[in-house]
Amino acid sequence: MTIADAEPAAAPVPSQSTYQSRVADYWNAEENPVNLELGKIDDLYHHHYGIGDVDWSVLDPADSTASASAERQERVTAELHRLEQAQADLLASHLGPLTPADRVLDAGCGRGGGSVVAHLRYGCHADGVTISRKQADFAAAQARKRHIDDKVRYHHLNMLDTGFPAGAYAASWNNESTMYVELDLLFAEHARLLRRGGRYVTITGCYNDAYGRASREVSLINAHYICDIHPRSEYFRAMARHRLVPVHVEDLTAAAVPYWELRKRADHLVTGIEETFLAAYGNGSFQYLLIAADRV
Ligand SMILES: C[S@@+](CC[C@H](N)C(=O)[O-])C[C@H]1O[C@@H](n2cnc3c(N)ncnc32)[C@H](O)[C@@H]1O
Repeated sequence: MTIADAEPAAAPVPSQSTYQSRVADYWNAEENPVNLELGKIDDLYHHHYGIGDVDWSVLDPADSTASASAERQERVTAELHRLEQAQADLLASHLGPLTPADRVLDAGCGRGGGSVVAHLRYGCHADGVTISRKQADFAAAQARKRHIDDKVRYHHLNMLDTGFPAGAYAASWNNESTMYVELDLLFAEHARLLRRGGRYVTITGCYNDAYGRASREVSLINAHYICDIHPRSEYFRAMARHRLVPVHVEDLTAAAVPYWELRKRADHLVTGIEETFLAAYGNGSFQYLLIAADRV
């Protein structure tokens, strides 16, 4: 029998499953003003939430004219962006110390803001990976616009299987992107990529084991974003299985609530999920957590 010398069927890279293709479709189609309008302020595009106290004076009505209303919207947009930036800065502060020679990995990088924040803080090289081709292209264009594309690069890749060299990274993170993947597969790839003594950081929503199982609100958030929020316990179990030893754990739940309270009032930016987040945080079923871990 002659075996045809045809090429093996091309692997569906970077998507590995139908689910991951649907996630990519979601992010390729995503054009929410809450992401784009905030990012336009300083070209730092984040797809995560914010932390810290709100300056409620942004809601003060000057008068009822159209221009006053537009100014109020602008103030609210800027305030939400400030809180999102504070979240990105907090995450970046746990990556260091790093030098300009170091390389960091932004796993599930969205439109790329987090990689830029890390580069501006440490001068380091950054690789952002996203399963969305559109996001990778958008982020790369932003890096070129800033003239940092020699050090900050974006890749249309699956973060579970990047193909990047083992031990090449001094730090890596997931900012609100762990709920799209199995933690064992994710942490195996981070442990492979991080050098010994490297730092892994995640900020994530997780469901609270002490509440029980996933609440109705957590299930609604899963349905809204096509994701699968993990329980808090699973982070620590999976890290322990993959040589990631927590060094700092911070419950950011209380710090996250003001952002949602303001966003709920931002008629020009709401996506419809605001009340669900507030209910999930309020009933104790959902938590916003930062975990920093050392790769041993
Ligand atoms: C909520 S956004 C967060 C984006 C970014 N980390 C930020 O904070 O702005 C989730 C991101 O995870 C990415 N993502 C989901 N599954 C992925 C996978 N398997 N590989 C790479 N990226 C993935 C999506 O493409 C999206 O960019």
